Order: sequence, then C-alpha cells, then structure tokens
Amino acid sequence: MISPETAKIILDQKTYELPIVEGTAGDKAVDISKLRSQTGYITLDEGFANTGSCKSSITYINGEKGILCYRGIPIEVLAENSTFIETAYLIIYGELPTRKQMSAFSQKVLRNASLHEGMMHFFDGGFPFTAHPMAILSSLLNSVGCYYPNMVTNHREQDLEHFDDAAALLLSKVRTIAAMAYRMKNGLPLIYPKRDLGYSQNFLHMMFTEPYHEYYPHDDITKALDLILLLHADHEQNCSTSTVRMVASSGANLFASVSAGVCALWGPLHGGANQQVIQMLEEIYRSGDDGSAFVEAAKQGKRRLMGFGHRLYKTYDPRAKILRAAADKVLKIVKVKDPLLDIAQRLEDMARSDDYFISRNLYPNVDFYSGIILKAIGMPTDMFTVIFAIGRMPGWIAHWREVASQVKGRISRPRQVYVGAPIRDYVKMRYREGEIPSDWESDDHKSLGGGSSENASAKA
Ligand code: CMC
Repeated sequence: MISPETAKIILDQKTYELPIVEGTAGDKAVDISKLRSQTGYITLDEGFANTGSCKSSITYINGEKGILCYRGIPIEVLAENSTFIETAYLIIYGELPTRKQMSAFSQKVLRNASLHEGMMHFFDGGFPFTAHPMAILSSLLNSVGCYYPNMVTNHREQDLEHFDDAAALLLSKVRTIAAMAYRMKNGLPLIYPKRDLGYSQNFLHMMFTEPYHEYYPHDDITKALDLILLLHADHEQNCSTSTVRMVASSGANLFASVSAGVCALWGPLHGGANQQVIQMLEEIYRSGDDGSAFVEAAKQGKRRLMGFGHRLYKTYDPRAKILRAAADKVLKIVKVKDPLLDIAQRLEDMARSDDYFISRNLYPNVDFYSGIILKAIGMPTDMFTVIFAIGRMPGWIAHWREVASQVKGRISRPRQVYVGAPIRDYVKMRYREGEIPSDWESDDHKSLGGGSSENASAKA
C-alpha cells in the first residue's frame, strides 16, 4: 500500500518527492519507478542487495530477526506439523488445503509421475554418463512441456487455464526425472513411484531400489528428506526465483521458466552450495587439516566457508536451526561414523567463536546441514542440488503464477551504468596511425569475395 509519507531526494539542486510503499509486515520501500523519467537518474545496486523487484504475497523473510513465513505461517510451525506436499499446496494456492483438496492434489501429483516413452531416449544414451543431474533436470523439465502443447502456449491466459494440471505435473515429474537421472548414471533400470508411498518416501524408493532389493526408507529418514524439501520450498526473491520471474515476465510458459530456475540454482553460491559443503569437507580431510587452516584461508578472503553466510539472514537462518536438530536425529539413526561430519562440527564451532564470522553475521546456513543430512543418508553429492530443486519447485510455480496473473505486468528489464569505451569513430579506429588503408584487408572481406582492398571498400 502507498504510505502517506514520502522520501525526498535532491539531485542537481532540485528536490524530488518519491512515494513510499509499505508491505503488510511493515517493510518500507522507496518507489523509484518514475525517478528516471523525472530526473534522468537511475539507481545503481549491483547484486540487487537493496532493490525490491516486485510486490509478492508468497513468502515473508525478516533476516535481522530470523523470521521466515510461507503465506503468513512461520516455517517452524510448518516444519513441526505439515508435509512437503501440503506446504507445496499452501505456497501455490495461498491457503492450506481441506482434507478433500489435499487428497485430490496428492492423487494428481501421484498420477502424473510417469514420463512419456519418447522421453526415455534421453536416458538411453541421450546424455553422457558424466552429465551432471542438474543439466539433465533443467533440459528435461523444459522438454517435458513439449508433450503438453496446451500448457506451453506462451500465451498467458491459455497457460493459466491449465495451471492446476501443469503445477501438479511438474511437482510429480521433477521427482521422477531426478530419480531417473541418478538411475541412468548408475546403470540401474528405471522405475516409477508406488501408489501407497508418500512423496518423499517414493523418491527415496525410486532412488535406491535395486533389482533384487526394494528399498523402503526408515520413517525418520523419510521425515528428514521431507523436511529438507519443505524448508527449501520458497525463499522469496533469491537468484533462481528471480530468474523464474524474469523469464516469466517475457510471457514464457511455466516449464521454460522453471527450467531456467534450475540453471540459476546450480551455481555454487546458491543451490550448489550444499554439494560444495561436502567437497570442502573432503578437501579439508584429504589435506590432514583439522579445519583451522581452511578457516584461516576463509578469513584472508582466499577461500569461502561453504554453507556459511546468507545475503538476508544476519542471525541464524531459521531453516538451519530446524535442520541442525534433524541432522542430530538422522546421525543417531544411521549411526555413521564419518570423519567429514566431525570436521563439519569443528568448523561450526570455530566459525561461531571467531570474531571474523561473528562480526559479519556469518552463521551456518540451510545448505550446511542439508549437506550433512543428505551425506548421512547416502545421497550422492551431485544429487544434493537436485533435491534443493525438487524442494524449490512449489515456490517457482507460485512465483510464475504471480507474474503471469498480473494484468498490467511489465517485462523485467533492469538498466545499467555503462562504463565501456566512449562513442568512437569506426574509420579512425580501423585506420590507426601507421596503418595504410589501401594495404588493409581482413579475412572476413576475403571470404566475402572482396579480393582487393578496392572491392572491400566498395562492399563496405
Ligand atoms: N566464508 C568467508 N567469508 C564470507 C563468507 C563465507 N562463506 N560469506 C561472506 N563472507 C564475507 C565476505 O568476504 C565479506 O567480507 P568483507 O566484508 O571483509 O569483504 C562479507 O562476509 C560479506 O559477504 P558478501 O559476499 O558481501 O555477502 P553476500 O550477501 O554477497 O553473499 C553468500 C552471500 C551466501 C553468497 C555468501 O555468504 C557465500 O558465498 N556463502 C557461501 C556459499 C553458500 O553457502 N551459499 C548458500 C546460501 S544459502 C542458500 C540459498 O538461500 O541460496
């Protein structure tokens, strides 16, 4: 809502008044949308650390206080009482489902698990065995849309008409594709989910079932995975979600938009961090360090302590707090004695008592503990970010819908401050001092048939 207050800015000795917008939780923003047309100035905010790109009613974060709510419900309450699929419904539709809605939604998700046989070719030599599952996931999420042409028209009203089906389909197929990517890599036959298993249980079943051993996970392991998915379900305007919204703003369909989100998530500073946490622990272990040399290198800016720090949270990431407790539980169940986990514990202790980390508010983030849990339950490291992507799917879907539903939505198109060469004279640049124009002849001109410089200049 527009606040009665305004902000004043003085530029070139002139004072301009800018509207102030206030969110439902008291967030305040200076609306600069008319700044350039009124003053000729734009704002510059590299990394968008201080820029609101949209108004959204999906997720609320207060990084100073460590608050995270989906559709107004605190994450701690959802973690305690809900499931990933119920939370997905809440995020996508804005309300908790009734029993009937929940049952219909779960059924719809289950029924959409299979992949068109045509897609099986992708798993049969369509990718090298070395392909990262995030590359497979991103490609196949976009490809799967090709089998549903009525859902991928790039015509907003039509795509929105099929939104309910597309949303359930993506939640289901992202799980199937993820499990299949793993099975392909490991030479295992492809299998589909079972009717009587829940979402996370089915995923673990599809991942780890072997020809002569049907895998049914321990309830607490299923719960830990479901919790990881739930805690990753949305996180407002992070890199991948902003990417989804940016792609959606051009009118692109839901499948193309979430596929772009997977690519953005892959990077080590975003979703790829959980994989990097384990790689960092392995590196420390191999080097014989107890963690202190690595922490020292991080303090000197030579390394990054992966799984620490967050753009928004300046106190403990509330998701990390929940997963820390879950990690303790899982480690007791699986009874693994893993030296990497000891190093993780030492790193956490060191960082939490070191002034460098304390003064910069660098706490362990959600990726630190999700990495530890996933490692403990036997998940291969290159699947960690894939699991993040499965979890983030409801958020991406909800954000796509928010963008696609805006009647007067504009394409996202940031500006820049250009710092390159000033406008220059091509001819002066080409015929620099000491170069004789008639001798000059480029390969391009030759290939165009301009055999002589005369011809070349005639063509130009
Ligand atoms: N290890 C060591 N120093 C760090 C770290 C770290 N992990 N993170 C930030 N710093 C330092 C940084 O060098 C800077 O120091 P100085 O003030 O002396 O220049 C200061 O802390 C502020 O850092 P920043 O890079 O300006 O912070 P940012 O908001 O741009 O980056 C971040 C946030 C998450 C990318 C960063 O903390 C990081 O690279 N962490 C490791 C990767 C990671 O765990 N990413 C997962 C984030 S949680 C999942 C998600 O929601 O996407």
